Amino acid sequence: MFADRVLSGMRPTGRMHIGHYHGALKNWVRLQHEYECLYFAADWHALTTHYETPEDIAAMTWEMIIDWLAAGIDPARATLFVQSRVLEHAELTLLLGMVTPVAWLERVPTYKDQQQKLADRDLTNFGFLGYPVMMSADILVYRANMVPVGEDQLAHIEITRELARRFNHIYGREPGFEEKAQAALKKLGGKLAGRYETLRAAYQEKGDAAALTDARDLLAAASSLGAADRERLAGYLEGTRRTILPEPSGLLTENAKVPGLDGRKMSKSYGNAVLMREEPAEVTRKIRTMQTDPARVRRTDPGDPEKCPVWPLHKIYSSEATRQWVVQGCTTAGIGCLECKQPVIDAIIAEQKPIIERAQKYVDDPKLVHAIVADGCDRARALAQQTLRDVRAAMGLAYD
Ligand code: TRP
Ligand code: SF4
Repeated sequence: MFADRVLSGMRPTGRMHIGHYHGALKNWVRLQHEYECLYFAADWHALTTHYETPEDIAAMTWEMIIDWLAAGIDPARATLFVQSRVLEHAELTLLLGMVTPVAWLERVPTYKDQQQKLADRDLTNFGFLGYPVMMSADILVYRANMVPVGEDQLAHIEITRELARRFNHIYGREPGFEEKAQAALKKLGGKLAGRYETLRAAYQEKGDAAALTDARDLLAAASSLGAADRERLAGYLEGTRRTILPEPSGLLTENAKVPGLDGRKMSKSYGNAVLMREEPAEVTRKIRTMQTDPARVRRTDPGDPEKCPVWPLHKIYSSEATRQWVVQGCTTAGIGCLECKQPVIDAIIAEQKPIIERAQKYVDDPKLVHAIVADGCDRARALAQQTLRDVRAAMGLAYD
């Protein structure tokens, strides 16, 4: 009943590296050509873990958004905004909190994991426990049905779905629902209404899935229905309640994992990252000094690409022919590691050239970025307000 909409967010971590680019941003760029997309800087999320060190959040947010634009996110297609500037996220977080069992939050795998991983921080705060509720609100406030995320975030999408279901179950009861559904049926007109009833019976009594699809198509095509009646009849069809907050699905981004310069996961905090916008000389230096298969001590020692962190970079950046040359040359000590790395260096520099060029106008004119984000916040807020009107009404908070 709701239009396709993509939503995703990233915590502001400052300059993006090629792991972010290949792991998420390229996918975001692609999606903007197919769907309505909303992308935001999750600055409140950053505070759930880094509440004691807030100094750089705003600066990191701007840096990150410049990199999004540099990657090719087009503000004319996608809505770019900052979470904390759209207060509706906070209101929905609070309201969802009313129906969130604390046990659900304690069970989320990242809760204990992160507490262990970030052992130097005190993560017994309420905000950190409630993080999945906030993430659910981020998604549900736009009624987004597609959420591109990495594997580590799938558990959060699952809790979002559970919360939406629970919310609809508790608050989707509309007073006089039966009567309203019957009135909507009248509007559908005799012939269509008869067909709808037949299909509804076939689905409810015999579980006929094709009948459900047909009935949905019938509703979608019925020009005599307004949006509210259409939704009511969709609910009536399945014997469920009204869907106030639709359940989203995660779009798992099956992207190549980019290893860091030391073979661990690429991360700024490990100091093993190649930035998305890096001086060519710096790209060259970083890749040339990057670790290789430890077996290749001397130039004459053969190696094994599978044991070398450079190899995944070839998988991302090199043609099949180059890769064959690498396997052949490495395993026979026919090529040296510096030689092997050169095509990767060239490819990264070539990839970054248009990115650096696109970034220039934003780097030169920060006001331009501010204007894009201000506009994005306005657009996001307008959408979020529609949802909150329905949510408030469903929760007994309609005062006007
Ligand atoms: N939790 C996500 C991360 O750490 C960021 C995020 C916050 C997000 N809210 C979201 C991602 C909503 C997708 C949808 O990467
Ligand atoms: Fe790695 Fe290439 Fe050296 Fe082999 S030749 S160890 S793949 S850098």
